[in-house]
Amino acid sequence: MLLLKGARCIDPRVGLDAITDILIRDGSIAAVGADLPVGDDGLGTDRPLIRDLSGRVILPGLMDMHVHLREPGQEYKEDIASAARAAAQGGFVAVLAMPNTQPVTDSASRVAFVLDKARYVGVTRVHVAGALSRDLAGESLAEIGDMYKAGAVAFTDDGRGLQDCGLMRLAMDYVHQFACPVLSHCELESLVGSGVVHEGIVSTRLGLAGWPAAGEEIQIARDIALAELSGCALHIQHITTAVGLKLVREAKERGLPVSCEVTAHHLFLNENDLNATYDTNLKMNPPLRTTADNQALQEALIEGLIDVVASDHAPHAAHEKALEFERAPFGCTGLETTLSLLLTELVGLEKMSYQRLVECLAHAPRRILGLEEVGIVAGSPADLTVIDPGVRWQVEAENWQSKSANNAFIGQQLQGRASDVYVRGIPSMIEGTVCDV
Ligand code: DOR
Repeated sequence: MLLLKGARCIDPRVGLDAITDILIRDGSIAAVGADLPVGDDGLGTDRPLIRDLSGRVILPGLMDMHVHLREPGQEYKEDIASAARAAAQGGFVAVLAMPNTQPVTDSASRVAFVLDKARYVGVTRVHVAGALSRDLAGESLAEIGDMYKAGAVAFTDDGRGLQDCGLMRLAMDYVHQFACPVLSHCELESLVGSGVVHEGIVSTRLGLAGWPAAGEEIQIARDIALAELSGCALHIQHITTAVGLKLVREAKERGLPVSCEVTAHHLFLNENDLNATYDTNLKMNPPLRTTADNQALQEALIEGLIDVVASDHAPHAAHEKALEFERAPFGCTGLETTLSLLLTELVGLEKMSYQRLVECLAHAPRRILGLEEVGIVAGSPADLTVIDPGVRWQVEAENWQSKSANNAFIGQQLQGRASDVYVRGIPSMIEGTVCDV
């Protein structure tokens, strides 16, 4: 038994925002309330271990629904164990693994491999998204039914847009039968071509091939039309443009089963952050867009049009990023910085409430994926994220739990950080130190 005392506990789903105690027993929340009795507690249990968390904020355990674990196949970038530790360091109790591993997660046995390995590793709950198309080749359907039976909770060709409209329709018809969402990486390859940064003045000035906004927006429009045709739930991944948001707004207003996510790098960085240093940590897919897009994304997140913040944690080794901009891989890490960026740029500046933070980092991902809810309420699994809002820290080039250091915010000062994480009542991080299990 564990008693967490003295923290401000926030869970909008049950209308909780108060300094109160949380009693944890056998992996679940046994009671929430002020001055819960200890010792002979009337609950028929022994005296609990007490942790004084005065000054901290406790939230329902956070989930990141867009993470590249790289195992199997690219363990030099990341593996399930290092990603699980990076998740805990960043304040997450759960992640959703993308299928662009080597080999691709496109069959039941490959789903089972990731789930089994993650269970063995512990630390963080790992859920798995299976591929839509075999080998992510966009030519034929992957074994969606088998993967569902093996435990996949969503399907996506993330890392690539699925180009063939007929195959996407078939995939959505199929996935719909299992009441799972399709997660869509929206990228029209015939338009994007070899683009590496947002197409505009900056791409011209830097002499880099442009990745036009329309290369994303056309696929968003197509997939919304296919969601309407199939009835399948559609989740737009890493949305980046104001026009894309308009399409999502219109779809939601028409009652279509559409949701979307944004990353911290698309919220807070833009093409003007690219400069003559050609920093490849700022090369991501989709690319950093404009200041106007930053503004539109932040407003849409605060308003609730954007459902989720996800990291798109995309680890790459130093030697891969130390290439010419055109040749370096797309992607940046995010598990260890996403929460602190939101705390610094939005919650700390009182642009966004903690309540909204809980919605977009805890409740919405689980709702979209059909996972068990967690909350600060008796009976819930004791999955909790504890934040120390007073900590000021700098994003360093080193000392990551992740095997990779390709973070887009190196050098930035942040305010607020996860200090403790509990998964089923077991700490995966205590006072900023990830726990060995
Ligand atoms: O920048 C990205 N990197 N975007 C993606 O969609 C894939 C990811 C990766 O796997 O490296």
